Amino acid sequence: MKIDSKKLVAAAAQARLGSVSPYSKFKVGAALLTKSGEIIGGANVESASYGLTCCAERIALFKALTDGKKNFIAVAVVARCDAGPMPCGACRQLLREYAPEAKVFIADSDDLKCIRTFTVKGLLPSAFTLVP
Ligand code: THU
Repeated sequence: MKIDSKKLVAAAAQARLGSVSPYSKFKVGAALLTKSGEIIGGANVESASYGLTCCAERIALFKALTDGKKNFIAVAVVARCDAGPMPCGACRQLLREYAPEAKVFIADSDDLKCIRTFTVKGLLPSAFTLVP
């Protein structure tokens, strides 16, 4: 199946509008694409106890997983920063566990047409797993 990276990036940009980031003011949106064509979005949610903050990628992933979605083939992440936001280490671990075959599309919200493409496996080589 040909993946429409522009559409997925647009979905991540839309999800970003839901960001709850009163502390950093750094809005991040993510969108997952399943093999059957469903798109699930999420955005970062921050806490006054900063360490409780949850990234957009994990919010999208947890939403999708707890709605019974699986077989993720791509994820897009969008924020307002040059070249777009790379997923943090924690999100790379979760994506590696639950979306190992996914492509990763990254874009700056001010320049959605410029999309950088990676893979989940490429972003976290030699990952820790319990299930091979
Ligand atoms: N953030 C994400 O949503 N995804 C990442 O991969 C890295 C960081 C969020 C967390 C926090 O709300 C804000 O960006 C600043 O770190």
